[in-house]
Amino acid sequence: MSGSLEQNFITQPIKSLLNPNLQFEELKEIIDSIHVYFHQKTQISGFEVTIENLAAIPASKGKAVGLNHAAQCLLDYHRTHRFILAIHQAILDQQKSNPGKTINLFYAGCGPYAPLMTLIAPLFRPDEIQFSLLEINRNSIDSAKKLIKEMGLNRYVSHIYLEDATTFQIPNAESYDILISETLDALLYRECYVPILMNMLPQFKKEVVLIPENVSIDLHLKKGGTETKQGVIFDVRKSISELTEKSDQLSKFPEKVFKLCSIPVENSPLLLMDTKVHIYKDHELNRNESSLTVLYELPYQKTDSISFTYYLEPEVELRYQFRQL
Ligand SMILES: C[S@@+](CC[C@H](N)C(=O)[O-])C[C@H]1O[C@@H](n2cnc3c(N)ncnc32)[C@H](O)[C@@H]1O
Repeated sequence: MSGSLEQNFITQPIKSLLNPNLQFEELKEIIDSIHVYFHQKTQISGFEVTIENLAAIPASKGKAVGLNHAAQCLLDYHRTHRFILAIHQAILDQQKSNPGKTINLFYAGCGPYAPLMTLIAPLFRPDEIQFSLLEINRNSIDSAKKLIKEMGLNRYVSHIYLEDATTFQIPNAESYDILISETLDALLYRECYVPILMNMLPQFKKEVVLIPENVSIDLHLKKGGTETKQGVIFDVRKSISELTEKSDQLSKFPEKVFKLCSIPVENSPLLLMDTKVHIYKDHELNRNESSLTVLYELPYQKTDSISFTYYLEPEVELRYQFRQL
């Protein structure tokens, strides 16, 4: 296949992702065809059974998912679609407010397909957008480089770093307009989004656009078929902005307590922990739309209260504790 024919072959499915109203079957077909192409170009499908591809990589705080898991993120259909729509819109918005300026994007945690770059770059010219990529997993970055070259996208890449995003000091951080870091899991479990933001956000200019712009976890009570929101367990951007301690010394965020004593135990109440990913403006991932927003249910216990604490050490995780009467 010649270069230009090959580019048409992959550019068409990429362009069709810009339709916000794709039916699920259509979306799946498009992303599956992109996956076949990425697999062919990188020799990585995300389903190879090797220890190397399965192993998570420890970061200074948190763990980076293994290469297979990172590749499979592409197939989290609504996730990939909404991130592409959001990044595309964020670039257009930046172009509108800075006419003629090259928009610089920093992509922390690109994985083996760097999909939030390889599915965006073909929609623009290299003088319009430039990416810097960072990844902790050497095999992932090697694969991403191979794919970028095969797709003829080298001219869109300014820098590639094999580094830990939770500690890396970014050269010329002030020059970036958009920071992308989809380093997430439901309930912000283990993955590095929070420590990455704590390290990176202070390095960028104040008005940098972060994608996803926030993640929040809400607590709901479900009883006899009705749900009532009890409040917010953890709001990443708010919690980081309220920190008084030096962030590199922080091992956990302040505890959040919810009173439960007035809830009768009939009808087997459930406590629901609901993750929401605010990607950019109206682009969101809500309950069970993606592996990142899977709902967690806790059987209610007759107690005075429940407390939640988001830990950074020894492991990155949200912990809860029922407090007995
Ligand atoms: C959930 S995957 C997403 C991959 C890809 N960005 C996508 O959207 O499909 C997260 C990626 O970030 C990388 N990562 C996680 N924590 C990291 C860290 N602290 N420093 C650099 N890369 C990290 C992982 O190795 C993995 O490739």
